[in-house]
Amino acid sequence: MNSIVIDHIGLLATADPMMGTGPLGVLRDVAVVVEDDRIVEIVSGRPAPAADHRIDAAGRCVLPGFVDSHTHLVFGGDRSDEFAARMAGHPYAAGGIQVSVAATRAATDEELRTRAAALRDEARRAGITTLEIKSGYGLTPTDEARCLRLARELTTETTFLGAHVVPPEYAGRPADYVALVTGPMLAAAVGAGARWIDAFCETGAFDADQCRTILQAGTAAGLGGRLHANQLGPGPGVQLGVELGCASVDHCTHLSDSDIAALAASDTVATFLPASDFSTRQPYPDARRVLDAGVTVALATNCNPGSSYTTSMAFCLALAVRDLRMTVEEAVLAATAGGAAALRRSDVGRVAVGGRADLVVLDAPSYTHLAYRPGVPLVHTVLEAGRVVVAGSRP
Ligand code: NIG
Repeated sequence: MNSIVIDHIGLLATADPMMGTGPLGVLRDVAVVVEDDRIVEIVSGRPAPAADHRIDAAGRCVLPGFVDSHTHLVFGGDRSDEFAARMAGHPYAAGGIQVSVAATRAATDEELRTRAAALRDEARRAGITTLEIKSGYGLTPTDEARCLRLARELTTETTFLGAHVVPPEYAGRPADYVALVTGPMLAAAVGAGARWIDAFCETGAFDADQCRTILQAGTAAGLGGRLHANQLGPGPGVQLGVELGCASVDHCTHLSDSDIAALAASDTVATFLPASDFSTRQPYPDARRVLDAGVTVALATNCNPGSSYTTSMAFCLALAVRDLRMTVEEAVLAATAGGAAALRRSDVGRVAVGGRADLVVLDAPSYTHLAYRPGVPLVHTVLEAGRVVVAGSRP
């Protein structure tokens, strides 16, 4: 057994309101004791026990590791020209995905593995300790299975997104492509260890009937459902996601009152991806209406080469607070417990005895600094399943 104590925590945001004060369940002047991969004790009002290793937080803020429930980390190529063109006035369109499909198909396993692992390490340095990774840049049974196997080397939260766009070889034959996705490609994805199925429900990608067929085939094969919905304009995605019992509908940039009512009456999480709205010059979602209706909300990076090339959850938090008008507490909760709900996980996203020891020590006295000091790398130390994966250099 290996034990670690994080001592002299000035402010512990547990992300569980039952554990302390306020929406983040804040405790002050405590220590957290970890044995192997689990949190075994939160110590208050007395000295912390001895342990094999001791981390002195020196009054800093500690919070759960971020849960990033939406990324597309396995891809080849570079689309910085597309970003520059967008900033010069060109619109974002679903078709840009084809550029990454061509580059991903052309890349070797080793090239894809090296890039994805580097991004996973970058995400860890940003405090992300649970990461979902989608396929969606292969779009053949072999390439989707390859991307999912590479993703599976980095996380158990892998998502089959064969329905990202219709690839060029199926242009004009979308029904044939849907048959491929729900047949041989789905079988290959299940064989490669996919846990979730996703589809891009959007003009220029897949319509509601196609998405329903694809998600129903995936759930019949044992995968959990999630959906890209209402990203580039209003549409049927959110209500379809609710109808199909999806764990999460992601983007939610354009929501009607009935979309919000449907979410509020369901256990489907609304996942906001504000870095994509930033990078594609979309309006930001009306998060206030969603939160005020009582919907569970998650915040994720959507790290991908097209619409959101960032692993910085702190950047997403800053956007959520400033531009989506979420309170700092709502934003931190969405990036931790909300992300866990979007992945239907109860072992991550909060600091709890018995939970996985995923902890972030910030180089700051409070989590508010994450939004208050935008662009500043504030992650000091990261524990993932009880292992120090980022070691703070400053005492
Ligand atoms: O979530 N919207 C669809 N998929 C990605 C974008 C992928 C791309 O542009 O390459 C997203 O934003």
